[in-house]
Amino acid sequence: MDRIHLAGGNQLNGTIPISGAKNAALPLMIASLLTEKEIVLRNVPRLADVRQLELILANHGTEISQQQTHSPDDDLGGQSISFTTATITDTCAPYDLVSAMRASFWVIGPLLAREHQAKVSLPGGCAIGTRPVDFYLEGLRALGAEIEIDQGYVLARAPKGGLVGAKLRFPKISVGATHVVMMAATLARGTTIIENAAQEPEIGNVARCLVKMGAKISGIDSRKLVIEGVKSLDGAVFDVLPDRIETGTFAMAVAMAGGNVLLANARPDNLRSTLEVLELNGVDLSEEMDGLRIRNPGHILRAVDVETQPFPGFPTDLQAQYMALMTLADGTTKIRETIFENRFMHVAELARFGADITIEGQVATVRGVPELKGTQVMATDLRASVSLVIAGLAAKGETIINNIHHLDRGFERLEDKLRRCGAQIERISR
Ligand code: EPZ
Repeated sequence: MDRIHLAGGNQLNGTIPISGAKNAALPLMIASLLTEKEIVLRNVPRLADVRQLELILANHGTEISQQQTHSPDDDLGGQSISFTTATITDTCAPYDLVSAMRASFWVIGPLLAREHQAKVSLPGGCAIGTRPVDFYLEGLRALGAEIEIDQGYVLARAPKGGLVGAKLRFPKISVGATHVVMMAATLARGTTIIENAAQEPEIGNVARCLVKMGAKISGIDSRKLVIEGVKSLDGAVFDVLPDRIETGTFAMAVAMAGGNVLLANARPDNLRSTLEVLELNGVDLSEEMDGLRIRNPGHILRAVDVETQPFPGFPTDLQAQYMALMTLADGTTKIRETIFENRFMHVAELARFGADITIEGQVATVRGVPELKGTQVMATDLRASVSLVIAGLAAKGETIINNIHHLDRGFERLEDKLRRCGAQIERISR
């Protein structure tokens, strides 16, 4: 398995292009199942999760083709991919495919809406928590689906004539359940009202693509989505929005390692709560025409407590990176994780750098230390892995990060982007 070697201590200077958002690209690809026409997605990031979802879609009959290719020396621009599912050839998403990537469970929405039936493997838990799917199933039941669970599979069947619009309210905000019910409702008969919907920018991105395909959705970017079902959806050409989590990650890397970097194409409006925290930390941020500029202020950062929350709150997907940053802050930081019950696996790894962190329930207490020292660590999940890269960039000496396949799931060419800004980082293939 590949690992990353990095030597800490270099400042980061230059420009880092922000890629398309993984968590928008995946549901946009899944939304292509809703139509027999061609969907062309632009700015799709080159990630292992995207390749995995291509396999899953191909299993349902989607024809996929690359519209343009970049050589590795190109400027890191995103790729355009075409998806056409003239007919859905298989309404089953098997265990082997779904267990490799949780978000593939979301195909249940389009399959049920278009084919009136679906058999999709339950995704199971994962490193960050149990991650049940009860809200998805309740949402689909509200649209009239009959749902059974048998031998680890969800068997879903729409009433005769297809799903029926309904009013529903999620008991808790869920990104995935909102995506699935929103997609399913686009082809339901009548109007669906989803209350307590997630309003992450990636949901808005998918909703806008659905509208471009002919769906009737109002309330986009709010907690209440109103979807008037249509008979069929059309093709579309659509851009994946820039990745706010990648943006926040690089902002924290620069804040920690020092330097001056323009995060090109970044959309600061999708990252307000994080940028507000970074400003309180004392990081120097400026919004420019073509992105967001981060300068390390040249003094020790102030400790600022955070609590993860659904958007527009501080994202759970930046919690690990922020914890790495606060290990060198002046004072003590309390970080409360409210979304996932087991998202502190990076703590033991950060401790190997010399960080002083204790956990009590859902709260991590980070006491700033004067320096981190390079060490050997293990990547445990996607965002945890990148927190170790950030720590390694700021640590004294050499760091080796093992198990980095997690990073490839969600960060496009991380080492290239950092190396171009002066980091000493390389991937060793074994
Ligand atoms: C999405 O996961 C993201 N994944 C996650 O990104 C992200 O951390 C998460 O939203 C929260 O922002 C993608 O977009 C592909 P949820 P999702 O449903 O949809 C509970 C990353 O690193 N819940 O919003 O699975 C659930 O257990 C990742 O890119 C139920 O109880 O998250 C959690 O506590 C990992 N029952 C909370 O809701 C349900 O039926 C929020 O989860 C559904 C969810």
